[in-house]
Amino acid sequence: MEVARSIAEMRAIVKDWRKSDQRVSLVPTMGALHEGHLSLVHKGKERTDKSIVSIFVNPAQFAPHEDFNTYPREEERDFAALRHANVDLVYAPDVKEIYPENHHTKVEVQGISQLLEGQFRPQFFIGVATVVAKLLVQVMPDVALFGEKDYQQLCVIRAMARDLDIPVDVLGGETIRESDGLAMSSRNAYLTNAERTLAPRLYQEITAIAEQVSAGADIDQVCAAASKGLSESGFKAIDYIVVKDADTLEDPTPGRPMRVLAAAWLGRTRLIDNIAVPA
Ligand code: PAF
Repeated sequence: MEVARSIAEMRAIVKDWRKSDQRVSLVPTMGALHEGHLSLVHKGKERTDKSIVSIFVNPAQFAPHEDFNTYPREEERDFAALRHANVDLVYAPDVKEIYPENHHTKVEVQGISQLLEGQFRPQFFIGVATVVAKLLVQVMPDVALFGEKDYQQLCVIRAMARDLDIPVDVLGGETIRESDGLAMSSRNAYLTNAERTLAPRLYQEITAIAEQVSAGADIDQVCAAASKGLSESGFKAIDYIVVKDADTLEDPTPGRPMRVLAAAWLGRTRLIDNIAVPA
């Protein structure tokens, strides 16, 4: 497995692969890797000849009060997992490589970025869209993969790649869950033992909503009941627990696919999760 710390080093390696027309996949990550990331790596490897994983904790997607400084950084452990997964190249630039002092450009996908997560983390998707646009233009992969656990992020990135005509196939990977249903996330490491026991309740509630809505229940009523259930069980604040159109994330309209999406706080940890409503 090769490791590139600069755009130039990474591009030289990719250029060499391209001489023999090899197809390339990219899994952008912020490190602290788990099975969810590795499943994206495997999915990419099935579709291309060479696989790249980028590791970059992107300061632009954290608000000043958020966890940029404490976000788990475990490079040696991540490298070992990626070596084991037969990744060809890790691209791990530092902040100055991605955002040199003369960097002034931001990418904003209007509309969808302002919904849901955008209401609670107004700068988040600008930071995500900016860094992912840069990574895609730097690497120019054939395929880029993102977890469905961050469902709105996947929608924003799809729209960004489409609008900027970036020639990449953006693929989603299904959410990988712990045996009790909790969606894997690097931030689960913040949970105390008591919070960890309670955390799968979020998945249970959205699963119940999906089943009930699929059976014709009133969306507002089931979401309100789930929100109450989470609060009573010990979740500190429910940012949202909603059913939306699966593509636009606007209010659902009859006959279109729907998605249940939720974000809620357990102590100092903000959990997000989502699930499709069965057709
Ligand atoms: O999902 C993440 O880990 C990040 O938001 C991403 C896509 C790597 C951009 O920094």
